[in-house]
Amino acid sequence: MSQNRVVRVGLLGFGTIGSSVYRLVTNEHDQILEGTGVDLQVKKVLEIDESKKPADAPEDLFTTDFGEIVEDPEIEIVVELIGGTGAAFTFLDTALRKGKNVVTANKQLLATKGEALFTLARDLGRHLRFEASVGGAIPIIKVMRESMIAAELHTVYGIVNGTTNYILTRMYNCEGDYADVLTQAQKLGYAEADPTADVGGGDAAAKMAILGSIAFHSRVTLSDVTMEGIQSITLDDVRYAKSLGFVVKLIGAARLIEGSVSVRVFPALLPVDHPLSSISGAHNAVFLQGDAIGEIMLMGPGAGGMPTATAVVSDIVSIANTKDVGFLQSCSCYRKLPFYPADEMESAFFIKMNVEDVSGVLAQIAAVFGAHKVSIESMIQKGRGAEAELVLITHPTKERDFFAAIGEANRLSCCKSKPMTLRVL
Ligand SMILES: NC(=O)c1ccc[n+]([C@@H]2O[C@H](COP(=O)([O-])OP(=O)(O)OC[C@H]3O[C@@H](n4cnc5c(N)ncnc54)[C@H](OP(=O)(O)O)[C@@H]3O)[C@@H](O)[C@H]2O)c1
Repeated sequence: MSQNRVVRVGLLGFGTIGSSVYRLVTNEHDQILEGTGVDLQVKKVLEIDESKKPADAPEDLFTTDFGEIVEDPEIEIVVELIGGTGAAFTFLDTALRKGKNVVTANKQLLATKGEALFTLARDLGRHLRFEASVGGAIPIIKVMRESMIAAELHTVYGIVNGTTNYILTRMYNCEGDYADVLTQAQKLGYAEADPTADVGGGDAAAKMAILGSIAFHSRVTLSDVTMEGIQSITLDDVRYAKSLGFVVKLIGAARLIEGSVSVRVFPALLPVDHPLSSISGAHNAVFLQGDAIGEIMLMGPGAGGMPTATAVVSDIVSIANTKDVGFLQSCSCYRKLPFYPADEMESAFFIKMNVEDVSGVLAQIAAVFGAHKVSIESMIQKGRGAEAELVLITHPTKERDFFAAIGEANRLSCCKSKPMTLRVL
């Protein structure tokens, strides 16, 4: 019977996640000890705001001096939960150099400066764990790095931003237009006061950079990910999609195509029977496709204090129980693959156009699409006269050809406003 081992942790930040990690470690201390033999103790918390200290916490738990954590030989693991890419990078870099193992939930940091930190961790033989950086409580990093090591993944589709999924779900249920639902989401705490990172796709892009790097063993940074947000999607678009049997979702798509990597974030129409279509509200899901596995989907709460804290604590306990840092410590990006050109990608599209309701319009539009090798799978016309709308779904086509066709169609005199386009998954 192995002996219990005291493992002392230093937390950086006592906000939503930091305070939940503290609460979880305190509440579940005996269970963790019983189950793993790890006597887990939060020894210090770096936090400026003393008023955040729980009433039952030791008097000297909080410090405003990072040195008290990083120079403390008893602290083995430093957990970064402050966010951002400035101080967070400096703290983790210093902690690794001082011999600490580190855990972070910071997707922005890993998607922008991850390579430097992973290289440092590998060179120094330290752990750098990041389960909570994608998907909250969903153990997607562990599954992709460990369980899928022989799966030859070629596609990762993710609903990895709860805010946008909440907004689009409510729009699908016809509970309001984009602006109304966003305001409700802000009131309920599902969206930030400044929602740009969520609704613009930046948060999802950082997470997809991390998942793409792991899936294809080749570094993807935030700047390699093309992104489109959901700000211009109207209730009308969602209703049309619904009437055609589709759900609108903000999708992260990481794909390996002919040995090249493509990572993108965009709003897309999904057939209502696609597994990702059933992911509603603030939930997240990741859908994996690989040669050896076919398809696997993981879903669950993608954010929030306690769900995310479970992922952080699992990383801490895993480090405490791992004698040799092994392959999990090092960066999994052992390849350097090229990126697939975006305009060479093939996609099917949904198009909504306001057109003049006069004879010959359909023939003009069909001729433009035909000239660019874009073939139409289905088309419906709604309304008459000045209100006439055409809704088309195309067959998969090269995006370069598609956007050339849309540009030309937009210049036709019968086309009364810029066509709205969305990819169809
Ligand atoms: N919230 C989620 O659901 C969620 C889910 C997954 C991952 N994450 C990630 O987890 C990390 C933390 O998120 P959070 O939601 O817990 O953020 P948060 O609530 O804003 O907490 C951050 C805490 O760090 C403190 N802090 C910031 N800079 C500091 C510094 N230089 N020194 C000391 N303390 C500092 C902040 O103090 P002040 O308030 O005084 O500035 C605050 O208490 C982020 O990287 C985020 O992306 C969050």
